[in-house]
Amino acid sequence: MMRVVALIIALMPALTFAIDLSKSQRAEIEARIKPYSQSCATGDDSCAAAGAETAVAAARSGEDVYNGACMACHTTGAAGAPMLGDVDAWASRMTKGIDALYASGVNGVAGTGMIARGGCADCSDEEIHAAVDYMVNNSQ
Ligand code: HEC
Repeated sequence: MMRVVALIIALMPALTFAIDLSKSQRAEIEARIKPYSQSCATGDDSCAAAGAETAVAAARSGEDVYNGACMACHTTGAAGAPMLGDVDAWASRMTKGIDALYASGVNGVAGTGMIARGGCADCSDEEIHAAVDYMVNNSQ
C-alpha cells in the first residue's frame, strides 16, 4: 500500500505537467487539427472547395448499388419487379423515357413493391440513377 502511495506521489509532478502542457497547447493543437476535422457531405458547397473529387470517388457504382439494394427484387422478379436481363419488360418501361425511370427509382412507384430508392435510404439520387442505368444497360 505504501508503495502505491509513494508511486503516485512520485508521479504527481509528471501528471501535473502533462495536464498543464495540454492546457497551454490546446489552442495551438486545435488550430493545427482543424483542417482535418472539417467534414463535408456530398452536395455541400464547402465540398467543392474541399475536394469534390473525393466525394465523387466515394459514390457507389450502379452495379454496387444494384447488388446491395435492388437485386433482392429485381433478380427474382419478386412482387412483379422487372427482372435484370428481361429485355421485353425493360423495353416497355423504357417507352416512358429514362427520366421517368430515374424518378421511379428515387421516388418509388406508388401502390407497388417498388419503394422509394429501393429502400436504400443513404443512396444519393446519382447512385439510384446509376443503378437504373445498370439495370437498363444489362436488359437490352
Ligand atoms: C422490395 C422490392 C424492390 C426493391 C428492393 C427494388 N425494387 Fe424496383 N421495382 C419493384 C417492383 C415491384 C417494380 C414494378 C413496379 C410496377 O408495378 O410498376 C419495380 C420497378 C422498378 C423500376 C421501373 C419503374 C417504372 O416506372 O417502370 C425501376 C427503374 C426500379 N424498380 C428501380 C429500382 C432500383 C434502382 C432499385 C435499387 C436501388 C430497386 N428498384 C429496388 C420492386 C423493388
